[in-house]
Parts: sequence; structure tokens; C-alpha cells
Amino acid sequence: MRVWVNGTILDDAYAPVLSVFDHGFTVGDGVFETVKVIDGRPFALRRHLDRLDGSANGLGLGPPSRVLIEEAVAAVLKGPPTAFGRLRITVTGGVGPAGSDRGTNGPTLVVAAGPLDVRPDSTAIVTVPWRRNDQGATAGLKTTSYADNVIALAHARERGASEAVFANTAGLLCEGTGTNVFYARDGRLHTPTVRSGCLAGVTRALVLEWCADLAGGVVEVDEPIDVLATADEIFVTSTTRDVQAVYRCDDRELTAPGPLTEAAQAIWSKREAEGVDP
Ligand SMILES: Cc1ncc(COP(=O)(O)O)c(C=O)c1O
Repeated sequence: MRVWVNGTILDDAYAPVLSVFDHGFTVGDGVFETVKVIDGRPFALRRHLDRLDGSANGLGLGPPSRVLIEEAVAAVLKGPPTAFGRLRITVTGGVGPAGSDRGTNGPTLVVAAGPLDVRPDSTAIVTVPWRRNDQGATAGLKTTSYADNVIALAHARERGASEAVFANTAGLLCEGTGTNVFYARDGRLHTPTVRSGCLAGVTRALVLEWCADLAGGVVEVDEPIDVLATADEIFVTSTTRDVQAVYRCDDRELTAPGPLTEAAQAIWSKREAEGVDP
């Protein structure tokens, strides 16, 4: 890993360098992005930085300096290019009181890069009993308060799955701990709207755009989470998974990839190869 913290590249990526009073540490007052790195170059960085601005504004942190982040990204990616890796950009409220009030010392900015294993082409998912709070103050923001996701993902792992899928407070399909969910029904692809409370995934947006001509395009619609129990195909999307077919949802086996998933995967591979700034 190469790690940049508030302007400095660390000699030891694992050295303790942040205050124990950093508001990201004490109360989860922070936002982040995960960006894929292909042959040493960040993929869709502009889209990720736009979303980072939105998350930081939503938390009242204000947009972080894009020039500074781009400098940090260049610094951590310097050297022999990583074939496949991940950048993590984190912005927190900085040093502050132990409670929920925010301090005035300015944000903490951390950018880290490291290699990543390529994910399998297909996976198992489970639905979980907990709900995503689509009515909460942080709905749709990519904050560092991910403890709900930690619990749900551990639940999924105990059941031999790599992703846990939430309904929202109305019982409608929402998203996974780190993925958006797509399913096929009646020969068309469907995915929840961002009003469901899901994160506006960068991969989700690109699939919507790039698959606009695939079997009539993707329908954005909010339906009960049970829709997964009868879907013909399911896939999940994220920065590190791209379009990943689902071979089992709860106890039900599915064809993976089914025909629409396979077509979406082929479109993804072709379009991704066209450039790193889609
Ligand atoms: C909660 C959540 N939903 C969806 C996604 C997928 O978003 P993206 O495609 O931008 O990685 C992520 C991952 O960043 C996430 O954390």
C-alpha cells in the first residue's frame, strides 16, 4: 500500500498518524470513495470525485480540494503501475470534540492505493432482516459510518455468501453493503431508483447508460425485496466487482450468468476498454 495523509506520503503505510480525536474515528464523521485502478490509472475518477463532493456537502464538510486530491492520487500511484488495484480516498471532519459537535481544525484527507484480487465472475448473495434507512440524514451519502454493513456482511459470510442485500424502510429492494442490485424479469433488466435510499453507484450509472439499448434498457423501479425470489437473473455492480452474476440468492440457485447478465458483462468489458474517464 502507498498512503498519503494530509500532504505527506508515509514511509510505513501502517504507522499510526491520525489523532485519536479525529471525528472520523470517534463518530464516523467522514466520507469516502473507492476507485478502481487499471494498469496504474484510476477508472472513472471524475465521477467518483463528483460523488465525493456530494457526500461531503451532504455531511456539511464542504467539497474537498480537487487539486489536492488529484495530487495525492498521482503521488500514491507513482512508480511501477499496478495491473489491478484500488484507491481509497477518505475525508473526515478532522480533530474534534469526543461528541457529535465538529471541530474547527479542518478536514483530514487520506488517499491510499494498493493491489486488489480480481473477483470471481459469479457469487452468492443473501437478503438480510435489517433495513436501509432511506429516510435518514445520510441516505444516499457514502459515509464512513458503515457498521450496519459490517454486521450484514458478516451475516452473509456465515451463510456462504459474499454480499448482503437490504430492503429499505418500506420493504422495497434497496442495495447491498457495497453493491447495487439488478435483476431480470419478463426479458428486461430492472434496478431500484435512487429514491430507494441506495447509493448512486458509479457502476450502476454506467450500466444504465451503456445498456440503454439492451432489450429495451434498464427499468428503474422500486419493488418489494421479494422480487428477488422470482427474478430470472440477478447481478450486482460495484467499482471492484463490475457486473457480477449471482448464482444463488438465499436458498435459490440461478443460472449465472443468465443471457441478459452475460450481455451486460460483454457491454461492460467493451466500453470499459475504451477509456478510463467514461
Ligand atoms: C452502499 C453501497 N452501495 C453501492 C455501491 C456501489 O457503488 P460503485 O459502483 O460506485 O462502487 C457501493 C460501493 O461503493 C456502496 O458502498
